[in-house]
Amino acid sequence: MTNSIVILAAGQGKRMYSNLPKVLHPLAGKPMLERVIETCLSLKMDNIFSIIGCKATEIKKTLGKYPVTWIEQKEQLGTGHAVLQALPAIPEHHRVLILYGDVPLISQSTLESFMAETPINALGIITAELPDPTGFGRIIRNPSHNIIKIIEEKEATPKQKCIQEINSGIYFVSAAFLNQTLPTLTNQNTQQEYYLTDIIEKAVKQKLEITSFQPTHYQEILGINDHIQQAALERFYQEQQAIKYLQQGATLADPMRFDVRGNLKIGKDVYIDINTIFEGDVTIGDHCVIGPNTFLRNVFLDNYIEIKANSYIENATIESHAIIGPFARIRGETHIANHAEIGNFIEIKNSSIGAYSKVHHVGYIGDSELGSTVNIGAGTITCNYDGAHKHKTLIGNDVFIGSNTELVAPVTIGEGATIGAGSTITRDVPPNQLAISRIKQSIIPNWQRKKKKET
Ligand code: UD1
Ligand code: MG
Repeated sequence: MTNSIVILAAGQGKRMYSNLPKVLHPLAGKPMLERVIETCLSLKMDNIFSIIGCKATEIKKTLGKYPVTWIEQKEQLGTGHAVLQALPAIPEHHRVLILYGDVPLISQSTLESFMAETPINALGIITAELPDPTGFGRIIRNPSHNIIKIIEEKEATPKQKCIQEINSGIYFVSAAFLNQTLPTLTNQNTQQEYYLTDIIEKAVKQKLEITSFQPTHYQEILGINDHIQQAALERFYQEQQAIKYLQQGATLADPMRFDVRGNLKIGKDVYIDINTIFEGDVTIGDHCVIGPNTFLRNVFLDNYIEIKANSYIENATIESHAIIGPFARIRGETHIANHAEIGNFIEIKNSSIGAYSKVHHVGYIGDSELGSTVNIGAGTITCNYDGAHKHKTLIGNDVFIGSNTELVAPVTIGEGATIGAGSTITRDVPPNQLAISRIKQSIIPNWQRKKKKET
């Protein structure tokens, strides 16, 4: 039997108090609906439909690259009405997995087990016992423990509100059953909505078997309706990430102050200090030390690298034994070769730094290629921009650049050359030569500094 997925995502998300559609709010750096779609893709089902309504154009624009059929629900008349919108597109012989766009942490493995354990001719539903079930639909069971009804919080009696088993809203059932029952739903309830939950009683009437499934972590099925729930799920997610890396052998100074918002790979014997953020694709090799308050986005670190405190590194490849920071900013496809040292208050953009080269104190290296064993003095700046175009600075092996030098690009400094401190270099310097462009020092005899008159 083949399957379709319907993701409900048409709701407004009023409680987010935001112009951004709720399902585009991020969890660990990614829109929550995108997380659900990626999980769906990993399930390898036949069709993915997403019901959208509120700010549909923005959602389609952001997530349009995914193979999802977007179906608009013009008016949000309830979860039952939402699923009904997708039915004409779903073949009658399919089974349908119903998910929510604002329940971002539902996992592939939970859904796979849930579907595998739902018998073919049954209605499967994911439920969970929550410490605080407030706000959720409650699962009503008969004395034989069979599910007979779901009651919404707003309709529940005080006794029913004490039930801790809740409806996740995730179901797996045949399209044929939905075709039969959804058109017969009514909206005679406190919210005047067509409740999808009413299909339970219809299944009971038809003697369709109803089975339930519990996820390992109940947080997987929690939805995000406001920023408090968003923050709580973010923490849960980050805690899970931290546990994963600790289990793999990383040392985290504080698992609660470690955030992964992408794909992070960590090698052996890595130490990660507090307040570290990893975005995009980050690889950390063996024996690396990541200092506190560090941000890494799309970075490849080889082995034995030390990133010192307060460094911001994106789109860079760094080879073994390099030392970066503290307070370094590296960006724009930069390559740093082995044993190079980049010190404090240095910005490096779109450049390559050769092996054993040093750029230690305060400066800007942009659009440059540095050979190996180059020494760049404090306060050196590459003037790569003429107001209209960017130009390259090429520095050969073993060059020594004195402090406070301006290298006006395009310019080439030949291998072994030396630049005197305080120079403004506008022309190429041949190999092994000394270039100085600073004004000669003069001494003015008998000069006296002015003094304030004493009053
Ligand atoms: C729903 C369930 C409740 C369950 C809870 C789990 C119903 C009637 N109730 O309640 O039993 O415990 O989810 O989180 O189903 N949506 C649409 N179109 C609509 C209405 C909703 O696409 O017309 C989407 C929303 O965007 C959201 C999802 O459906 O992603 C759930 O809707 P919501 O209004 O949040 O339902 P709950 O009241 O939370
Ligand atoms: Mg909800």
